[in-house]
Amino acid sequence: MPQIPFSLEQTNIFRVPGNVYRSLESLIWYAGMDTLRVLHYVLWHQPFKFPCTVIPHFHAILTILTIIITDMLVEMFPNGSPTSLYGITFFFASLPCIVLLSKRYFNGPMCKSAATLTGKVAIVTGANTGIGKETAKNLATRGARVILACRNYEKCNLAVLDIQRTPGVEAKNVYGMPLDLASLKSVHRFVELFRQKENRLDLLVNNAGIASPGSYAMSEDGHELVWATNYLGPYLLTYLLLDVLKESQPSRIVNLSSFVHQWANIDLDDLNGKEGYKYRGAYSQSKLGNILFTRQLAKELEGTNVTTYAVHPGLINSDIWRNYFVNYPLIRICMDFITWPFVKDLEHGAQTTLYCAVEESLTSESGKYYSDCQQKLPSEMAQNYTLAKQLWDKTLVMLDIKK
Ligand SMILES: NC(=O)c1ccc[n+]([C@@H]2O[C@H](COP(=O)([O-])OP(=O)(O)OC[C@H]3O[C@@H](n4cnc5c(N)ncnc54)[C@H](OP(=O)(O)O)[C@@H]3O)[C@@H](O)[C@H]2O)c1
Repeated sequence: MPQIPFSLEQTNIFRVPGNVYRSLESLIWYAGMDTLRVLHYVLWHQPFKFPCTVIPHFHAILTILTIIITDMLVEMFPNGSPTSLYGITFFFASLPCIVLLSKRYFNGPMCKSAATLTGKVAIVTGANTGIGKETAKNLATRGARVILACRNYEKCNLAVLDIQRTPGVEAKNVYGMPLDLASLKSVHRFVELFRQKENRLDLLVNNAGIASPGSYAMSEDGHELVWATNYLGPYLLTYLLLDVLKESQPSRIVNLSSFVHQWANIDLDDLNGKEGYKYRGAYSQSKLGNILFTRQLAKELEGTNVTTYAVHPGLINSDIWRNYFVNYPLIRICMDFITWPFVKDLEHGAQTTLYCAVEESLTSESGKYYSDCQQKLPSEMAQNYTLAKQLWDKTLVMLDIKK
């Protein structure tokens, strides 16, 4: 009578490629791949919205990693427990899920307002790239007439063409105008030209900004370049457009700040801060300036139905980091790769700006600070009204504006 085998190992069926672990390897691999496929399906389809161009690359890399690591483990630990090998493979198969969920978390909320802007006119500064371009595109799809105010006219035209091709956008409603915020003359010229072309302004988005010029640099008017671009230029632009904003009320002014304002210290007697210059200090000072400006402006505009908002858009992978690691492209690529799950993409980076620009429930709010489509408290210094007024007055002197 034939004997029934005592265990599966005694049957030889797992010994074909070498040993039992070698056979399990393919089993583990297919299980891992199936997990990947399921995660891929779940993550790629609604309700989640992920950038489809990135997912295949990520999967390809993770797939290769999973193969290599499973192979290495099987070679290194031929007697290793199949459960732990499966655990490790499962971990790698789950990585895309962890990474994409992290991306979703850090991308933050979307602006839910469906407000339409037909017949409204909006200016977005620095709209040839980054979150400015995303903002301009979104405003145009809502029906607004959008002016992209940019210093680089070539890049501006490309952005205009791109936005004009967006479904739902009327091409004639989008155009560019030259504006270099680091030049007071250019700001004046922009406002003159704008007045010739348009007779109303419903929304001004002071978005343009630089993080670092590399080293200490001055604007043509003799101001430190970051301060001139991020604070003085937008201040003057807003100031010169106040009458048209008031005539078009209800209207809004959205100023792009940053959470780094909380690391800043403003020295009213040395706003161009040449002594011990650090570009990070200059950037955070300018972003603190943006919030103080927003607060004081709200006070100046009380009763006019023109409201102001300061925004921290989040940490976004944009051109603003262009001067970082310029000499170390490999480090730059690694940094981009590692930080990808923790930074916002451009579309999400524009959401808080859009929230402040169109959200109906904010009509009676003014002078506040927003992040992730919610009002937040800025640093103590940014809430100091005395400082805001002092900076306001000081800026009028710096810009030679007589009331
Ligand atoms: N990215 C972030 O993580 C982050 C975080 C917090 C706050 N922010 C703020 O968000 C805003 C937009 O940043 P982003 O990330 O979209 O940066 P970005 O991609 O570098 O875009 C900045 C825009 O500003 C323009 N610009 C720079 N200097 C100018 C000048 N002198 N005159 C006119 N336009 C000028 C740039 O034009 P060119 O292309 O010609 O240089 C570009 O269009 C900035 O105010 C920034 O401080 C960004």
